[in-house]
Amino acid sequence: MGRWLRFAALVIVSLFVVSVGREIKINYEDELPVYNHTLAKIIVEYASAVYITDLTELFTWTCSRCDDFTKEFEVIELIVDIQNCLQAFVGVDPDLNSIVIAFRGTQEHSLRNWIEDLFWKQLDLKYPGMPDAMVHHGFYSAYHNTTLRQGILNAIQRAIDIYGNISIFVTGHSMGGALASFCALDLAVNHGMTDIQLTTFGQPRIGNAAFVRYFGKRVPHTVRVTHANDIVPHLPPYYSYFERRTYHHFPREVIPSPKVSFGLMVGKVSITPLPG
Ligand SMILES: *[C@@H]1O[C@H](CO)[C@@H](O)[C@H](O)[C@H]1NC(C)=O
Ligand SMILES: *[C@@H]1O[C@H](CO)[C@@H](O)[C@H](O)[C@H]1NC(C)=O
Ligand SMILES: *[C@@H]1O[C@H](CO)[C@@H](O)[C@H](O)[C@H]1NC(C)=O
Repeated sequence: MGRWLRFAALVIVSLFVVSVGREIKINYEDELPVYNHTLAKIIVEYASAVYITDLTELFTWTCSRCDDFTKEFEVIELIVDIQNCLQAFVGVDPDLNSIVIAFRGTQEHSLRNWIEDLFWKQLDLKYPGMPDAMVHHGFYSAYHNTTLRQGILNAIQRAIDIYGNISIFVTGHSMGGALASFCALDLAVNHGMTDIQLTTFGQPRIGNAAFVRYFGKRVPHTVRVTHANDIVPHLPPYYSYFERRTYHHFPREVIPSPKVSFGLMVGKVSITPLPG
């Protein structure tokens, strides 16, 4: 079966699953937060739009994915780190009365390197100020040690200057979800922000159990949306050796259209804190 056909089949199955809603499982292991599908459908459009490479369309919010539920969005800043192939934006959604920060995941050509890196370099950095908390150095650095962080902090400050202390949504898909997590934690821990909601799609693991506990306390409004066929949320693998074959389900198909990609990713919804 051709790639496209396989993709189409997946989409149809996913749409069916979504419409029936049977595969959507919500774990109320912690009391909070409640998964709001209407809200997630809005947020996934941001997580999807940040992949757009035409920066003019993105900045003016006229891209093909800049539509539907997010028409009124006002981009405050695009942050592009060309050297590290990173992209994010900060803006204000007037309907949500919130700042929205979205991080792009990996481009397809670097996906393989990235997955291999993820596998070989596991939890290898102590998170500052958290005893026993270990995190993935690559993700930590991609947020903390590139131009992303300062660009985002500056843009948030500009948004606050204009709109006051409104709430903040942070999102991202795949690696973008990992960066979004570090960003949300940074805002909570180092900048005293409390009204933060983190929604990630198909994000990989980023830290150990101690980190996860800490994270859950500091960013309690965390929702991870994952799809069973998406390998990234299962990375880094802990027990099995790495099989190349296992990640062929995650080519660029998962990304394109907001509705479709959400269909593909929504198989399982976990509202427990980030995985260990
Ligand atoms: C879910 O989110 C939407 C969009 O922000 C909001 O209008 C709605 O009230 C929320 N539903 C609940 C149950 O919180
Ligand atoms: C940050 O980047 C610099 C230069 O690329 C490097 O020397 C340093 O070790 C990095 N720090 C972390 C925590 O990754
Ligand atoms: C926003 O919150 C910060 C810290 O809590 C406070 O210093 C600042 O005055 C607030 N700004 C506005 C416009 O409310």
